[in-house]
Amino acid sequence: MRLEIPRDCERIGSLQIYGLQKVYELDGGTGPHENDSMVERVPGEVLHDRMREMAIVVPVKNERLKLIEGVLVGIPSSCQVILVSNSPRGPVDRFGLEKEALENFGRFTGKKILVVHQKDPGLAKAFADAGYPHLLDKTGVVRSGKAEGMIVGTLLAKWLGKKYLGFVDSDNYFPGAVQEYVNEYAAGFAMNPGRNTFVRISWHSKPKVMENNLFFAKWGRSSVNSNAMLNRLLTQFSGFETEIVKTGNAGEHALTVDLALQLEYAAGYAVETHHYINLLEHYGGILESTDPEKVREKVTICQIESRNPHMHESKGDDHVEDMIDASLSVIYHSPICPEIVKQEIMENVRTRRGESALEEIAPVRIYPSLSELNLNEFMAGCDESLNFNAVTVRA
Ligand code: GDD
Ligand code: MG
Repeated sequence: MRLEIPRDCERIGSLQIYGLQKVYELDGGTGPHENDSMVERVPGEVLHDRMREMAIVVPVKNERLKLIEGVLVGIPSSCQVILVSNSPRGPVDRFGLEKEALENFGRFTGKKILVVHQKDPGLAKAFADAGYPHLLDKTGVVRSGKAEGMIVGTLLAKWLGKKYLGFVDSDNYFPGAVQEYVNEYAAGFAMNPGRNTFVRISWHSKPKVMENNLFFAKWGRSSVNSNAMLNRLLTQFSGFETEIVKTGNAGEHALTVDLALQLEYAAGYAVETHHYINLLEHYGGILESTDPEKVREKVTICQIESRNPHMHESKGDDHVEDMIDASLSVIYHSPICPEIVKQEIMENVRTRRGESALEEIAPVRIYPSLSELNLNEFMAGCDESLNFNAVTVRA
């Protein structure tokens, strides 16, 4: 892969956010890992070295089997796949169908796939025993939600001894796009070898049909809103207007497992925006730190602009509006959010929601950092109960 070296960088405390990087070649060939002042070439061998240490978590809820299979086709074989499903077990056992399809797929490809159901009792027990009951609902199983599935995937990546962790949604129509994202994750880690690296993808375009023609939209509605408010927030801290953040809502993202275990996760679809906020809270030097050692650790966010169009299932306008509210909510309710940005967020909500806007945007549930969980206990729980209704297909 051949990528642009980022030109812009915003530094807030020990957090550095690099500007969007273009991809010049999806396959940059073999040979040395090299760069000039503008472009870096990360050869295929280096990408695969990173992928061998990477788990790709695929969250699934009620997606069509053909779509899930396409996503798996796109994930390079060096990666470990962890599929976390919250699909219903009845009246039709959709999870059962997913497992069956994946077993077959694993048999043909020899792919390393771990499949687990989000509501698995063995998994819930591992969380309870590890002193992390926050994720469990009143019936004692893991709550529903994409972020909740991501937390499960994060810990399973740790359990499998992986160093890097990437996420790809399971409703992607283009296997080639998935393959590209994973290569970009690996390139991001190769270019930023630190312990705390976060790679976030901004889609180049999203195809839509408008008046019988194909139209390649650049920005999704949720990204427009969360990027604008995150940039407003940064502007408040530095005094200089910035547009550095392009990936506020990036569902496609990857990070080192070490960093993932430090972060808080916001419930549902607020998760990606909250990661920005939580990094600013922990590493931005804005709040008084309870852990000065941590503030000294450098954290790098690298943003890469993918080349394939991104096409996924359309889940309706209401869903998008809810997602925007959830993202803005985590900015609004953060202790670092100044009054002026809060006012702008409420103006945004009133403009979109009209009469039905609440007086104040509702808070979203925030799960504490996984550093609060007893990892050894959790892993022992996994050792004990994993086959917990999971299919493990190892190469
Ligand atoms: N395990 C699990 N549990 N997976 C879930 C759940 C759940 O409760 N709910 C949804 N998913 C899966 C879906 O099957 C899909 O693969 C993925 O999570 C994303 O859900 P979508 O409902 O397709 O979200 P979206 O396409 O509207 O939004 C995506 O893009 C946004 C950026 O535009 C998500 O990735 C958002 O998080 C992201 O902000
Ligand atoms: Mg989707």
